[in-house]
Amino acid sequence: MKILMVCLGNICRSPMAEGVMRYMIEKNQLQWKVDSCGTGSWHIGEAPDSRAQRTAKNFGVDISDLRARQFSQADFDEFDRIYVMDQSNYSNVLSMVRNEQDRLKVDLLLNASHPGKNMEVEDPWFDESLFIPVYKQIEQACNQIINAELGILNKF
Ligand code: 4NP
Repeated sequence: MKILMVCLGNICRSPMAEGVMRYMIEKNQLQWKVDSCGTGSWHIGEAPDSRAQRTAKNFGVDISDLRARQFSQADFDEFDRIYVMDQSNYSNVLSMVRNEQDRLKVDLLLNASHPGKNMEVEDPWFDESLFIPVYKQIEQACNQIINAELGILNKF
């Protein structure tokens, strides 16, 4: 399984999602790939926002070595699932699909934990109090993704 987490800047939400997912993949000894990126270009090459780093670290996840990059069409070839944080990320990524196969890879991350609800992971950039609740939402969704896959694996 190859998973891509996408937000706007790739310095707050999606690096936290990458870090959480990486941590869970290692814990479950899965051979999965996870990466993250942003639809915007402003923060390319930057480390995650210090508030995102601090939040993840408080939960035992080190994301200090991640660096921001921008989403590109090649990501549709590289990844099986593309999880976006909000509706704006969703429309930006969908505007780049080449075919139905690309489109089917894209979903809001919180649909993993709240199916069909189309809930968004709110942008914590302008509101520091959102970092912890956002982290917990991301953690719950990542947990569901892993459990859904392990459930399938356990049937065989
Ligand atoms: P992110 O948060 O999309 O979760 O990484 C943001 C980071 C930077 C900006 C907006 C959102 N910005 O406007 O620079």
